[in-house]
Amino acid sequence: MESKTASQWELLTKLDKPEELVFIQPTTSTASTAPAKSGDDVGTESSLVDKNDGDCLSPKSSAFKIAIAGGSGQVAQEIIDALIKEDKHEITILTRSNSTTTTDRPEVTTRAVDYMDNSDLTAALQGIHTVLSFIQLLSDPGNTLQKNLIDAAITAGVKRFAPSEWASADMKDMPWWSGKAEIREYLRKINENEKRIEYTLFQPGLFLNYLAFPHLTSAHITPLNTRFDFRHRRAITIAQHNYHITLTTSADLAAIVAAAVSLPENSWPIDGGIRGNRVTVSEIIAVGEKIRGGAPFNIDTVKLEDLERGVLDASWKLETKHASVSEEQAGEMMKSVMVGMLVSGAKGGWDVSDGFNASFPDYEFTKLEEFLGAVWEGKD
Ligand SMILES: NC(=O)c1ccc[n+]([C@@H]2O[C@H](COP(=O)([O-])OP(=O)(O)OC[C@H]3O[C@@H](n4cnc5c(N)ncnc54)[C@H](OP(=O)(O)O)[C@@H]3O)[C@@H](O)[C@H]2O)c1
Repeated sequence: MESKTASQWELLTKLDKPEELVFIQPTTSTASTAPAKSGDDVGTESSLVDKNDGDCLSPKSSAFKIAIAGGSGQVAQEIIDALIKEDKHEITILTRSNSTTTTDRPEVTTRAVDYMDNSDLTAALQGIHTVLSFIQLLSDPGNTLQKNLIDAAITAGVKRFAPSEWASADMKDMPWWSGKAEIREYLRKINENEKRIEYTLFQPGLFLNYLAFPHLTSAHITPLNTRFDFRHRRAITIAQHNYHITLTTSADLAAIVAAAVSLPENSWPIDGGIRGNRVTVSEIIAVGEKIRGGAPFNIDTVKLEDLERGVLDASWKLETKHASVSEEQAGEMMKSVMVGMLVSGAKGGWDVSDGFNASFPDYEFTKLEEFLGAVWEGKD
């Protein structure tokens, strides 16, 4: 039996209703996992489906020094888990000197940095090969800290950089993520005349884990509800728009990223899509109906032109907010998140490329129906 880490146990014991929990126990390799079967007791050994043999993800190259900016965050912690399991690279978490978040990871070094102090930042990045950024854009107006991080990385001779993307292919209808577009342009300009740093935009689409809401399916990602509400057997769709969405589990994202950092230099695609599942809205709903008892979901169908005017004519709304959104911002923010996600979806914004699928053609991603079927099995 593989033992759970301290943070995972802590997370399990903190839950009010552990019987509702579906926990994905990480595998012993960087391969993807399937959820524990719903009948499993939390805290006992959960079933493990390791579909990927060790070789499909392991370019046998040398170890690198990797810095993780914002490494105390939710998504970063998923990737750090996978990197630690690989036991190959040297990992340093960069945290703001005034940060209130803590990371209790004996396997990694934590370095407090002042992102506004170029010499401190450059010193922290000396000898680092790859920087992965998970900086929370909502609290970095103007992208000052991430731009400073990129500049310092180039000065320090860092070879590779991944900005705080980790989501959609496009974000022009999601204003809260406009900073991602600005950083893309910043990086493009930096390399315009000569390649000064290799970079990729890791894009797994939406976390498939969110369709398990309110159930917990990863060690670090807080469940959030979406327009596909499997719990209440309902969804919000847009009339005449049956668009594609990419849904990838956080475990598969972490496995691919952990493998990608070992790829040889100059082999990262800029367009770093990671397609766990590329499915249409109607396919997602059909899976939901099948695994949630067979009855049709209640569908609210809204109009794209209304959404584009900021009008959301639906009978329900998002209930959960990301930890980075303040209570004061929450009401308006949740409406604009729902509207923005719908509009950007209809325009193909969540249909990411297969950039990194091509790098790891033998990797078997966790399938939507397999994952959600296990999560929802036996649930009301
Ligand atoms: N695909 C999806 O479904 C999905 C879901 C969630 C998130 N994401 C993306 O994943 C990335 C990380 O999101 P997350 O939810 O993991 O973030 P998070 O936990 O809210 O924050 C990440 C880290 O950013 C640092 N940070 C916070 N404010 C900062 C600031 N003003 N300047 C510099 N650093 C700051 C903090 O580290 P320190 O306090 O240690 O400095 C924090 O731990 C984002 O790009 C987000 O858009 C994608």
